Amino acid sequence: MKINQNFDSLVPNYLFAEIAKRTGKYIEEHPDKKVIKLGIGDVTLPLAPVVVDALKKGADELGVKETFKGYPDYEGYAFVREAVANYYASFGVAVDKDEIFISDGAKSDTGNIGDIFSADNVVLVTDPVYPVYVDSNIMAGRKIVIAPSTEENGFCAMPDESVHADIIYLCSPNNPTGSAYSADQLKVWIDYALKNDAIILYDCAYEAFITDDCPRSIFAVEGARQCAIEFCSLSKTAGFTGTRCGYTVIPKELERDGHNIYKLWYRREATKFNGVSYPVQCAAAAVFSEEGQKQIKENLDYYKENAKIIASALDELGIYYTGGKNSPYIWLRCPNGMGSWEFFDYLLENAQVVGTPGEGFGDCGKGYFRLTSFGDRDNTIEAVERIKKLLSK
Ligand code: MLT
Repeated sequence: MKINQNFDSLVPNYLFAEIAKRTGKYIEEHPDKKVIKLGIGDVTLPLAPVVVDALKKGADELGVKETFKGYPDYEGYAFVREAVANYYASFGVAVDKDEIFISDGAKSDTGNIGDIFSADNVVLVTDPVYPVYVDSNIMAGRKIVIAPSTEENGFCAMPDESVHADIIYLCSPNNPTGSAYSADQLKVWIDYALKNDAIILYDCAYEAFITDDCPRSIFAVEGARQCAIEFCSLSKTAGFTGTRCGYTVIPKELERDGHNIYKLWYRREATKFNGVSYPVQCAAAAVFSEEGQKQIKENLDYYKENAKIIASALDELGIYYTGGKNSPYIWLRCPNGMGSWEFFDYLLENAQVVGTPGEGFGDCGKGYFRLTSFGDRDNTIEAVERIKKLLSK
């Protein structure tokens, strides 16, 4: 037998596994130190009460013969898809419930969608980039081309008309840089995709953090239905990082190479995925209820306040940063010309604060660093105090 040799082309560890490994080693060697983790974007606030109630009610129903459920529908229960469609309508985007798949998160679906595309497609990613897009395509043996996101373009990479791509990953608000595309910028990407007969894989896992008029969905922009698939997640919106639920939207009319994309993904899901558990789908539907939206907003506001606390510390220190406005992530330039991993070690060793080295997101992330606002408030305040003390020396 032979192993998939493409795995040899991956960096040895998934970025956040590498960070966890290094942090774990430090904690083991310094058991007396309190380490504050502002690295992986994992939430710290509990699920909203209305969500927990729905989860429990769903579980109770499974314990009663009359309401027991077995396998869910491959595309997710209609009541959740309806709730998602209504959510889109609340910000003016028309999506039919029969264009929605309920998933266990955007990570899985952005990683798995490649199953329906041939290995010889050219994949375009913006750099820095969420590593899942790159790693999953390396595993499949696809050629990857880069559109650089830099300080010069406000970390909003735009297409190079001389470069051809078949599959385009966009993430807005962006992980890791926190930048968000305007409708005009998205239109440029849509026109480029249509010209190249490409498909945009649009990850809007952080749309709930948008505070200005940037689109919350690519389907708010004309032409997207002819070239885009959208992925979203309740991980960051509603604290589902451990509960696991997201959704993927595929316009029914989206076709490529003589195939209907919705049908292909349905075929793939029916083969490899048995869906999200009933109690979790009940919890997801509760997120989109009126009370659910109110309760999750309180949590989102809490994280947005954390972002302000981090940003104001960086302002005081005179450190360049971006993000934190439409996004839970603050993207900063490492001080004193330090490299990303160098700054990671420096912060861990001298302030016991964990962040994410920008370089882990690609070459354009070299010399940058990401801090998350998903921490607990007291820990966030303590972390920025430690950073201020260390860097103002
Ligand atoms: C991140 O920190 O970039 C995210 O938590 C990763 C993810 O959502 O999988």
